Amino acid sequence: MAFKSQPKGFATKAIHSGQAPEQWTSLCVIPPIVTSTTYKQDGPAEHRGFEYSRSGNPTRNVLETCLASLDNAKHGITFSSGLGANTAILTMLSNGDHIVVSDDVYGGTNRLFRQVAARLGLEPTFVDPTDLNALSSAIKSNTKLLWIETPTNPLIKVVDIAAVSKLAHEKKKDIMVAVDNTFLTSYFQRPLELGADMVVYSLTKYMNGHGDVVMGAVTLNDDDLHNRLRFLQNATGIVPAPFDCYQVNRSLKTLALRMEQHQKNALAVAKFLESHPLVEKVLHPALPSHPQHELALKQTYGYSGVFSFYIKGKLEESRKFLKSLKMFTLAESLGGYESLAELPSVMTHASVPLEQRIMLGITDSLVRISVGLEDSDDLIEDLRQALEATSAK
Ligand SMILES: Cc1ncc(COP(=O)(O)O)c(C=O)c1O
Repeated sequence: MAFKSQPKGFATKAIHSGQAPEQWTSLCVIPPIVTSTTYKQDGPAEHRGFEYSRSGNPTRNVLETCLASLDNAKHGITFSSGLGANTAILTMLSNGDHIVVSDDVYGGTNRLFRQVAARLGLEPTFVDPTDLNALSSAIKSNTKLLWIETPTNPLIKVVDIAAVSKLAHEKKKDIMVAVDNTFLTSYFQRPLELGADMVVYSLTKYMNGHGDVVMGAVTLNDDDLHNRLRFLQNATGIVPAPFDCYQVNRSLKTLALRMEQHQKNALAVAKFLESHPLVEKVLHPALPSHPQHELALKQTYGYSGVFSFYIKGKLEESRKFLKSLKMFTLAESLGGYESLAELPSVMTHASVPLEQRIMLGITDSLVRISVGLEDSDDLIEDLRQALEATSAK
């Protein structure tokens, strides 16, 4: 069995979309970093496309065009962080609107919905996104947004984007289905092709891939939703800096190459862990042991470098293991060229209420790793020695 095959042209779009030298008077081949905050006007309110860098910036435009093309989307909009993109979508809603949210999402997303959206009069309901009946019964007459992440974070459950989008739109035409695609990127998964309305990214992760930019984005096809989000990008001011736009635009040029290598390395590491006696269970969608393996093959073009596993033992063993790693860095985040490892229960997902963590299975023995681009033999050796150190008395 294999993943869906990638249509030709992805790498070409990543390198050329939005990058035409003809858009600059200098004909420069590499897009410049335009740092000017303001732009000269020919007459009052007569400008040539740019007035002020919060409402529009040439370097940002280059990146947004490229991002949209990678999802085969009409529009791409960037924000100052992944959570900034989430915030922009939330501000499309009004007091009293209801939101159905996946119960297994990035901890910061959970916190935003639970502690900020709820305080502003929005009503979030958390549901298991793999249970279509539960999703369907959670939708109410005032539901305006359905939010999923797939794979989920940190439990790596695969959610059926086509089924969820169909269900939501059949139940209520005006529900916006948003899919956080941070873990897979537009290289491995394109939710708009499967019926979603918006794709959300923490570009901080694989899309930038070099661990040196915090940024977010939304891609979408609908003109009306785009106009509303574009208005909010300017009105709320959650915009990225031109230098950061330049960095992410540059990083996209190698996205296809990087994702292929992340995929290879992570699969080798996952197979090693699955065979290790100190590992209870590995959660990686490319392994036949994953409960939604077939769905993963059906809806995605491959798998990235982030996955989780349960180590045998409790907090003490997890701590010992993580502290024994030499090449994997013990740190939050994912998607960079460097390998990272973390303990979601006390790090990325510590803000998720304890009862919800227990119910989901985010225990102290669940370790999440982000497999980078080092040589896979070296990564496996590091895991092997850390597991040995954990089992030593
Ligand atoms: C899946 C996912 N979505 C969104 C975010 C938030 O992105 P940012 O840190 O860029 O605000 C993260 C951050 O870890 C994430 O993992």
